[in-house]
Amino acid sequence: MKRIGVFTSGRDAPGTNAVLRAIGRTSFEHSYEVIAFRNGIKGVIENDSFLLDRTYLSGILPIGGTKLGTSISESYINNHNTISQVKKIQEKLSITCFIGIGSFTTMKLCAFMKASEIPIIGIPATIDNNIPGTDYSVGFQTAVNYVSESLDRLHSTASSHHRVFLVEVMGGQCGWIALYGGLTGGADLIIIPEKAYSLQELIAHIRRREGEGKNFSIVVLADTAQLPVDITEKDKKTIVDHNDLLQFLSHEISKDTNMETRHLILGHLQRGGSPLASDRLLGTLLGNASVECIRRGQTGILVGQKNGQIEFTDLELIKNKRPVDLQLLNIAKIFY
Ligand code: F6P
Repeated sequence: MKRIGVFTSGRDAPGTNAVLRAIGRTSFEHSYEVIAFRNGIKGVIENDSFLLDRTYLSGILPIGGTKLGTSISESYINNHNTISQVKKIQEKLSITCFIGIGSFTTMKLCAFMKASEIPIIGIPATIDNNIPGTDYSVGFQTAVNYVSESLDRLHSTASSHHRVFLVEVMGGQCGWIALYGGLTGGADLIIIPEKAYSLQELIAHIRRREGEGKNFSIVVLADTAQLPVDITEKDKKTIVDHNDLLQFLSHEISKDTNMETRHLILGHLQRGGSPLASDRLLGTLLGNASVECIRRGQTGILVGQKNGQIEFTDLELIKNKRPVDLQLLNIAKIFY
């Protein structure tokens, strides 16, 4: 009989409950037990746990966030106290293997555990889609859908008032949400951290659109977008965070185009809501595959999906966040 220990860590993502449900249901199918830990790795260390049963998993498929609760994993990485505590809990509860579900940082935590000889499997679940080893992480499609719908709504005000809108989206240092959200929501310009841009080209683009009779523009930018390359040293000093950047860009655009400009931050609304069917499916398949790996004795891996196939990546190969494919930005430009 095997006993799996599961936790959800890092920022929440829709579809995580589908992963948990699949881990539970697949385990029960093989008569394995599942110990669930509350509130991320913190709950593992504190042994805040319970034996998962069918009742707990019932009805959670359409629910956003994580029913188990979460906590930020960063401070637990490269911390030897983490390893000694986890090993103690593993022994105490006779856990065959842990499964960590969550963000890029959670996958780094899983890699740290693997390097310390703790049997662990990682499942990528983050709206940011910035984890290598998978085409999509659980939750990304739902967040993109929210961005896309928000841009649809914004089009009415932007076009009625002939305004420029700057819309900030999340992304965890990568431009996936901005690019996919912008492409599917009809953005007129997309600014991502992976690509430098200038104020001059931004303004020229809005003017060009105006010249073509398009008297509104929707610009989507990621929350970690760079400063424009042509910003003066003096202006640079006034920009401390992403809010300042939005204010600055809005001001510069309205000054140089005479168009009313507004900015908004979609913020945490992007992380909420019921997961789309595609995230429920991905979560279900990855959750199922992770238990099958444990069944075969295969651990120390990230379970992802590439080209529609389940794919395994050694956790220790997860080094850097996965940047967007800049080819997609070139495609997006066709629609500006
Ligand atoms: O990792 C998901 C994410 O949504 C990032 O895109 C964003 O920068 C961050 O979380 C914000 O997290 P919070 O404000 O909840 O700490």
